[in-house]
Amino acid sequence: MEIKAIRGFNDILPNEIGKWQFAERTAREIFEGFGFSEIRIPILERTELFSRGIGEATDIVEKEMYTFTDRSGNTLTLRPEATASMARAYLEHQLHTFDPVAKLYCIGPMFRYERPQKGRYRQFYQIDAEVFGVENPMVDAEVILMLIHFLKKVGLERLELQINSLGCRACRPRYREELKHFLLTKSFQLCEDCQRRLHANPLRIFDCKVETCHEAIANAPQVIDFICSECQIHFDQVKKYLERAELTYILNPRMVRGLDYYTRTAFEVVSYQLGSQNAVTGGGRYDNLFQEIGGLDIPGIGFAIGMERLVSLLPKDREFIQYPHLFIAALGEETMKEAYRIINQLHLEGIRAELDYEEKSLKSQMRRADKLKAQYVLILGEDELKRGKAVLRNMENKVQEEIPINNILNTLKEKILRD
Ligand code: HAM
Repeated sequence: MEIKAIRGFNDILPNEIGKWQFAERTAREIFEGFGFSEIRIPILERTELFSRGIGEATDIVEKEMYTFTDRSGNTLTLRPEATASMARAYLEHQLHTFDPVAKLYCIGPMFRYERPQKGRYRQFYQIDAEVFGVENPMVDAEVILMLIHFLKKVGLERLELQINSLGCRACRPRYREELKHFLLTKSFQLCEDCQRRLHANPLRIFDCKVETCHEAIANAPQVIDFICSECQIHFDQVKKYLERAELTYILNPRMVRGLDYYTRTAFEVVSYQLGSQNAVTGGGRYDNLFQEIGGLDIPGIGFAIGMERLVSLLPKDREFIQYPHLFIAALGEETMKEAYRIINQLHLEGIRAELDYEEKSLKSQMRRADKLKAQYVLILGEDELKRGKAVLRNMENKVQEEIPINNILNTLKEKILRD
């Protein structure tokens, strides 16, 4: 039986990769311009990092992690997100001793055992950016500004930035109690999971996809109405800084984000072109995460962009595939030797050249050059070779010319690089 990929795990094929590389290249350029450095973290971590960091009573930890025991009996998890790992790496390598502020980004695959559908996969990629060590609301706005700048730069349109404040350790408990109190009156409408969540972590009922739970929570009190004065001041400042940067946002008081580590600012960027899985990016502030994972009291803020969703939104009219500059059509044994010499030199000069190794007829080689969308074809025939010449055909305007072999590398470079 033919072996196929696992459900929810995708191959990214050569005809799509140009979009991915473009998005990644642009992210690196922009983020580094904002002072961020790349960090690469492991794909596997101790399960505890995520259960403590993301929260025991979240969908991710309860239902979606790929967890297993390794041969030494350690309980390990394929990372479902990058923030907790980046915080762990920052603490483990004491990056704060070098500079209290760290601006880091990371690009790579994450794993969640969710029900696959369009825009939702079990292995998916994120571009993640985090700032550790700053509590000032100015940085909340700066991070959002960088995100929006990036999304616009890659060509995304019709986006909506939604923000909310989720309060802090001081004010959240009062809200939780209020929410619980409200939901207790509707507990008969809640699914089995939410019945349990009602006591363990009532905020997570907002994430539930069951219709009756949705209805139950529809008129629930909102966290924004319960935040303390410090959180209110912080949120007002964030909004002011966003306005100063001329960023438009809408307040979404129902957005609570699916991970427990958030405090104060939470945000999402949604696209109305995406359908039900419409969040391109999610992020926010997490001032207690470092302590949760056993570290110092360090504030943090960041976001993660879902690459699959981002790539599906890139402008359709943009060309992302790199076609060959040149196709060499060689006929006969001697000309193949010459073709081999020329193609190797071209490759060393960074010119994308292709050759037909099968020595097919000229007609079939031309057909292949056409299919590959080569810009030029260099035709090497025995007779021309004897005269020290080759024929160069411009595939766009079909103009052919004879060029001398002895200076061929320079002639080709000049033409190809000029176009
Ligand atoms: P998140 O909202 O769970 O946040 O994920 C961020 C983005 O990753 C989503 O908006 C979505 O575009 C994409 N995403 C999530 N799950 C899937 C999936 N199963 N398939 C495809 N795409 C998906 C986080 O992960 C936080 N760590 C973000 C963050 C960074 N907060 C602060 N810093």
